[in-house]
Amino acid sequence: MLERHYPCYLASEAAQPNEALEVRDKYSGEIATRVALADAAMIERAIAAAAAAEPAMRAFPPHARQAVLEHCVARFRERRDELALALCIEAGKPIRDSEGEVTRLIDTFRVAAEEAVRIDGEVLNLEISERAKGYRGFVQRVPIGACSFITPFNFPLNLVAHKVAPAIAAGCPFVLKPSEKTPVGALIIGEVLATTDLPKGAFSVLPCRIDDADPFVTDDRLKLLSFTGGQVGWELKAKAGRKKVVLELGGNAACIVDGDQLDRLDHVVERLVFGSYYQSGQSCIKVQRIYAHRSIYAELRSRFVAATRALTAGDPRDRDTFLGPLIDDASAERLATWIAEAERAGATRLCGGARERNRLEATVLEDVPRDARINRLEAFGPVTLLEPFDDFDDALARVNDSDYGLQAGVFTDSLAHATRAWDRLEVGGVVINDVPSFRVDNMPYGGVKRSGLGREGIRYAIEDMTERRLMVLRG
Ligand code: SIN
Repeated sequence: MLERHYPCYLASEAAQPNEALEVRDKYSGEIATRVALADAAMIERAIAAAAAAEPAMRAFPPHARQAVLEHCVARFRERRDELALALCIEAGKPIRDSEGEVTRLIDTFRVAAEEAVRIDGEVLNLEISERAKGYRGFVQRVPIGACSFITPFNFPLNLVAHKVAPAIAAGCPFVLKPSEKTPVGALIIGEVLATTDLPKGAFSVLPCRIDDADPFVTDDRLKLLSFTGGQVGWELKAKAGRKKVVLELGGNAACIVDGDQLDRLDHVVERLVFGSYYQSGQSCIKVQRIYAHRSIYAELRSRFVAATRALTAGDPRDRDTFLGPLIDDASAERLATWIAEAERAGATRLCGGARERNRLEATVLEDVPRDARINRLEAFGPVTLLEPFDDFDDALARVNDSDYGLQAGVFTDSLAHATRAWDRLEVGGVVINDVPSFRVDNMPYGGVKRSGLGREGIRYAIEDMTERRLMVLRG
C-alpha cells in the first residue's frame, strides 16, 4: 500500500479533480493507491498554460534553470527510499532495480543541471564567395516552445526524467501524460517541481484516459512530441501535424558472443542473464537474441540455462528477488502464447515457460524459427533465444535481420570484429564487451528502423528541444 493519494499537476499547481485512477500493486494485485485522473477540460487548460508560459520560460535564465534542476536532485536524494518503494509497488520492479532507477533519476537531473548552462551558439564565417564579403553569421539556440511528453510503464521515473529534465534545461514548458499503469513516479516528480521557481504554468503532469489523450499528440500549440512506448508511436507521428516528433519504440536486442570468450564465460553469462531478465525483461534493450560462436555454444548454453534456473523469483519488496511480476496478466499471456507457438514450429524450451497470472518463469528457447513472433517482435518479458553461429559476418547479418535497431552487444577480444560490428550493425548503439542493456544517462540513446526516431540522453534531447536562430551581420 502507498500511504497517500496523489494529486495531478495542472499549470504548476496540485489539482484534485473528481475522478481518480486506481493504481494496483503489481505483485499482490491489490489497489495500492488512487491518483487524480485528469479530464479533457484539464488537458486543454494545461496546453493553454504551457503555450502561455513560453515567453516566461524563454526568459528564465540558464542559471535559474540549473538551480531548479539542482533543487530536484536534492529533493530526490532526500526521498530516495520513498521513490524506490513507490516504483517497487506500482511497477512490480524488484527493490534493487527500483533503487537503481532512483540513482539514475538523480543522474539524469544532475547532468541536465550541468547542461542547462552549456547551451551555446556558434560564430560562422559566411564569406564563402565574393558576394558575401563582410558578412558574418551568429547562431543561438532558442527553446522550441511547449512540449508534449508521453511516457511508458517500465521506468516510471527515469524515462519521465529523460523528457522533463532536458525540457527545463532548454527552457521549454511541457505537458506530460505518464503511463496509466504507473503514474506515481511522475506525480512525485511533479510534486517536487511544484516547489521550485519555475514560471507559472510551465508544467503539467496529467494521468488521463487514452480516449482523452489525443490533444497531447494533435494540438498544434505543442511544438514537439516525445513519446516512449510501443509501435503505436508511428501512428501518433502520423497524427502529430507540424510538430517535431521523437520516438523511442523498443526493440528485440541481440548480443553476439565471439569464439574467443571461453576464458571469461562466467562473466559473459552473468551479464547475459542480467540483460535477459532484469526487471523481468521489461526494457527496450533487454537481451532477447543471443548468437554464440559454435565453438563455445554448448558450454555457454549449459551455464546460461543453469544460471537462469537459479534466479530467485518472488515478491519485488524482498531484497533477494531478482525476477518480479510482469506489468499485467495480458503481457504474461501474450508471451506464453508466443512461446507455445514457437515450440509448435520446432523450437526447444530449455527452461522456464510456466505462467501464473502476471508471472512468467525466466525462459530460454533454442532453434526458434526466424519468422516466429518471439524472434521477430519485441518480447518485453523474460524470454531469451539462443542460437549458434559459425561465421562472425553471418552473426552480424542475423542481428540485422530484424525490423528493429535500438542497441546491440558484442563480446569479443578482436578489435577488427568490434569495429566491424560498429560499422555494420543497424542500431543506434553498439556495446562492446557488455550486453545491449547497458545504458548510462548521458549517452545518445535511440534507434533506427522500427525502433524510433531521434536520440535522448539530455544533450541530444536539448538539441531537439531548441531551434537554431541565425543572425547575419554585415560590416
Ligand atoms: C527503455 O526501456 O527504453 C529504457 C532502458 C533504459 O533506460 O535503461
